[in-house]
Amino acid sequence: MKNIFKYLYGLGALVIGIVLSVWIVGNAVSHDTEVEQVAMDAGEFPDYVEMLNNYYTNFDNRSDHFHQTSERHFLPMDEQENCLTCHSIWPHKKEKRTRAFYNQHSRFMTCMVCHMEQEPGRKLTYRWYDFGVDNSLTRNGPYGLVKIGDDDVSGAENFISKITPLVVDGSLNTRVYTPYNTPMYEAYREAVLNGETVNKEKIRQEAEAMVGQDPKTCSDCHSESSEFPMTALGFEGERLNELQHSAVVGMVEKYELFYFPAVFE
Ligand code: HEC
Ligand code: HEC
Ligand code: HEC
Repeated sequence: MKNIFKYLYGLGALVIGIVLSVWIVGNAVSHDTEVEQVAMDAGEFPDYVEMLNNYYTNFDNRSDHFHQTSERHFLPMDEQENCLTCHSIWPHKKEKRTRAFYNQHSRFMTCMVCHMEQEPGRKLTYRWYDFGVDNSLTRNGPYGLVKIGDDDVSGAENFISKITPLVVDGSLNTRVYTPYNTPMYEAYREAVLNGETVNKEKIRQEAEAMVGQDPKTCSDCHSESSEFPMTALGFEGERLNELQHSAVVGMVEKYELFYFPAVFE
């Protein structure tokens, strides 16, 4: 009889252990949900830049940020990408394993870098663009080209410059970028706010005309054989090596379930 209780006790402990682990891992991969929540409460067309600025200004979140400067870290909302008319700045939700990475990558590259495909007769390449913003952040160079010390990278506060796709036609390169303040989207947003009937599907079709079927995944960029022009973008030496042989990418792509080593202080 006593043994049965021992077994039951053991079983109970196991169940609690499993539930706790699932909860912890679930929370670890859903790091972005808190910010997402803010987005949902922020009305029809949220100003994501203001939200990001508030997030970083909030005292509790300061430790997340490198240090405080008086200059804007982000491109003004008007100049952000048109996609944000309908999608959140954290649009990836479905794939729990990868969504945080894709959402983070949008800080230093535009949506179309991953969502536009090369087609026959439409050759693509990728370059940094500072959107004509000339300040101490952009002059410091794009985010993360060079490694400084063990943890830090160059240009760490520059969330203005982004990698954008260019269509290459002989010697002519055309940048693919449609800003939020394009008249078509301004008119659409105003119509929605005024309660007028709008054809969302039509606007979506135009907006997504160049959005491909197969967005780029980790190894499309993070591998030695990748066609993504890391060197032309300025990555070199140890930093290039790190990006081409990323342990994180290996972990995300090869294992179904992974655990982060934790440091308890
Ligand atoms: C006028 C609104 C609108 C605009 C602008 C817009 N989208 Fe969408 N998009 C939608 C809607 C609605 C859906 C379907 C619901 C969803 O997945 O959010 C969608 C779905 C998607 C999907 C998922 C498709 C699938 O098969 O699962 C991708 C990827 C996407 N959009 C990318 C973009 C990108 C990149 C841009 C900017 C270049 C953009 N969208 C601009 C409305 C829009
Ligand atoms: C680094 C590459 C990358 C960037 C940058 C990126 N995406 Fe995606 N996106 C993907 C991949 C890959 C998928 C396919 C689903 C997945 O694997 O998570 C996806 C899926 C989506 C979906 C489908 C919904 C979902 O939950 O998966 C939408 C909508 C979307 N992207 C919109 C955007 C918008 C808007 C931007 C810019 C703010 C953007 N993406 C930037 C790679 C990217
Ligand atoms: C379109 C190309 C592209 C795709 C797709 C892509 N990455 Fe990246 N990734 C980059 C570039 C470029 C950088 C370096 C950005 C910088 O430092 O300026 C980077 C940086 C990183 C970093 C290092 C961040 C740091 O600051 O050191 C990690 C980790 C990473 N990516 C993981 C992933 C994972 C995981 C995926 C898939 C879920 C992925 N990447 C998809 C291009 C890509």
